[in-house]
Amino acid sequence: MVSANRWSWLENSGSSPGAHCVRYNRVEDFNSQVVKANSRIAEMKQQLDMTRLPRHVAIIMDGNGRWAEQRGLPRVSGHRYAIESIRKTVDLAHELGIPYLTLFAFSTENVARPPEEVSEIFLLFEETLEREVPELNEKDVRLLVSGELEMLPQHLERKFKDAIELTKANSGMVLNLCVMYSGRQEMVRAARAVAEEVAAGRMKPEQIDERRLRDFFYHPELPDPCLLYTSPSPRDLSTSRMPSSA
Ligand code: FPP
Repeated sequence: MVSANRWSWLENSGSSPGAHCVRYNRVEDFNSQVVKANSRIAEMKQQLDMTRLPRHVAIIMDGNGRWAEQRGLPRVSGHRYAIESIRKTVDLAHELGIPYLTLFAFSTENVARPPEEVSEIFLLFEETLEREVPELNEKDVRLLVSGELEMLPQHLERKFKDAIELTKANSGMVLNLCVMYSGRQEMVRAARAVAEEVAAGRMKPEQIDERRLRDFFYHPELPDPCLLYTSPSPRDLSTSRMPSSA
């Protein structure tokens, strides 16, 4: 269960006098949801055929804003509450022995959101990396990032790179975070790199095939996702979809 302590930043983040109390009650509500979800997960785990688990699960993190709006909360609260869901998802995937987990956390399109929302999401990345990476490292999880890290504020780019470096020798679950990611951009990047190879005479056009193109993806070593999960919303998936899941 989420302790009031663990979520104290939610209380602190209230900007109006009434917000403190309202948000604290929301934590209580949230805790009861967590308890229910935990017992559902325990039930489902019993029914799982452990020999038929997917090798690579990809999840599009979507609906945080709507979740908050439906509860009369600011959209950024949805992102804050989402962190606990992410934590549970990563823990469960690790516990089940899923070898690869991809989370689409922030797309290049998301940069166009209101600046306050983008800053809040970046702050969440920072806080979450600081809090969770040591534990992920202890669990032998290897962290990868797919996306244009250079487009992030420098201090955040550094934090991601440090986390990647710290966990690079781990041989347990691979957690691939798509940050500043776009599936189309991944293809453009790969196409440019192939064109450069051809222009430099290191590759012939007729040698270009799926496998060669894949070599220029962010992480060619990742197997194709076999399960892509997204919330049931009429959303254009083209930004998040990895070329390898096409
Ligand atoms: C989509 O919900 C989610 C985001 C744009 C950002 C989520 C990122 C975090 C919660 C930080 C995660 C940190 C780590 C380290 C993984 P949405 O706002 O698009 O929801 P909507 O569909 O309701 O608008």
